[in-house]
Parts: sequence; C-alpha cells; structure tokens
Amino acid sequence: MTQRVALYPGSFDPITTGHLDILERAATIFDRVVVSVLRHPEKEPLFSVEERLELIRDATREMPGLIDVDSFDGLTVVHATNVGATAIVRGLRAVSDFESEFQMALMNRRLNPGIDTVFLMTSAANVFMSSSVVKEISELGGDVEEFVPPATAQALRRRFGRAR
Ligand code: PNS
Repeated sequence: MTQRVALYPGSFDPITTGHLDILERAATIFDRVVVSVLRHPEKEPLFSVEERLELIRDATREMPGLIDVDSFDGLTVVHATNVGATAIVRGLRAVSDFESEFQMALMNRRLNPGIDTVFLMTSAANVFMSSSVVKEISELGGDVEEFVPPATAQALRRRFGRAR
C-alpha cells in the first residue's frame, strides 16, 4: 500500500508546543511526516540548523516511525517531491497568518500541482504562541517552560545566559 507522506516545513527557531501539536495531529492523518528546517531563511536565526534539528529530534523521540527530521535548501515543493510527500502541512493560528499562507499555498500548488497544502488550525491554547514571542520572553527573563519542550527551554536559558 502506498504511504501517505507529508512535509512539515518551517524555521522552527525554536520548535514550540504549538509546532508539536500540529505535528502530532498531522501524524494521525498521514503515515509519515517529515519535519524540515529551512537552511537559509532571510532572517538571522537564534539557533543553528543543527541545534534546531537536535531540539526537534529530542521533542519527537516518542514518535518513532511516524516522524523524520531533516533540513532543506531551495523550494519547499522540490524538497517535498524528494522525500516522497504529496502534501505540505502548515499550522494556522489567527487571521494574520492567513494571507501569507494563502499566497504560499497557491504558489506552491502552481509550482507543483501534485502537492497540496493541508492546514491544521492551531489548538486554542496556542493561538498567541510563536517562536518569536517565546524567544522574546526568554531573552527578557521570562519563563517559557509551558510554551516549548523541556530541552528547548533549557537551550533558551543557556542561550540567554541563565543556565540551570
Ligand atoms: O516557519 P516559517 O518561517 O513560517 O516557514 C516558512 C517556510 C520555510 C515554509 C517558507 O519560507 C518556505 O517554504 N520557504 C522555502 C522557499 C520556497 O519554497 N518559496 C516559495 C513558497 S511560495
């Protein structure tokens, strides 16, 4: 039987419980989900690609077989084809996400009509969560334990000089 594979692309700088929620739910729809970190985004990341991959691997250790973790350069649709995915998974939070996601989904489908984008609505608890907000809170000394997996919380504390 053919496996239904989805690509979940993003910056994941760093992974949050919002990402994990989308990932866990995507894993109930698809046979395999490949989480892929974009290697050369325009903005300067806080964590290197290798650090981000390690944090994702740590957070998804309990989901063996379902989840693969890798990184990519270039077009998302090309990477999706390379990993055998027929769908791209994206999380949608509020209305503000919609316009850019809509544009990206339509453009990706124009680039490769064989790959569609599947949007999962964020869980209510994560509506206002983003990697950027989590980084800002952590940098300013706030506690981000409830917003990110444990290894990520520790990595943030270390990065902002509050190792414990
Ligand atoms: O987590 P992010 O930063 O919202 O993820 C954005 C990402 C990586 C999905 C997007 O920037 C992307 O797909 N970049 C790869 C380049 C590409 O394929 N561009 C054409 C899409 S219209």
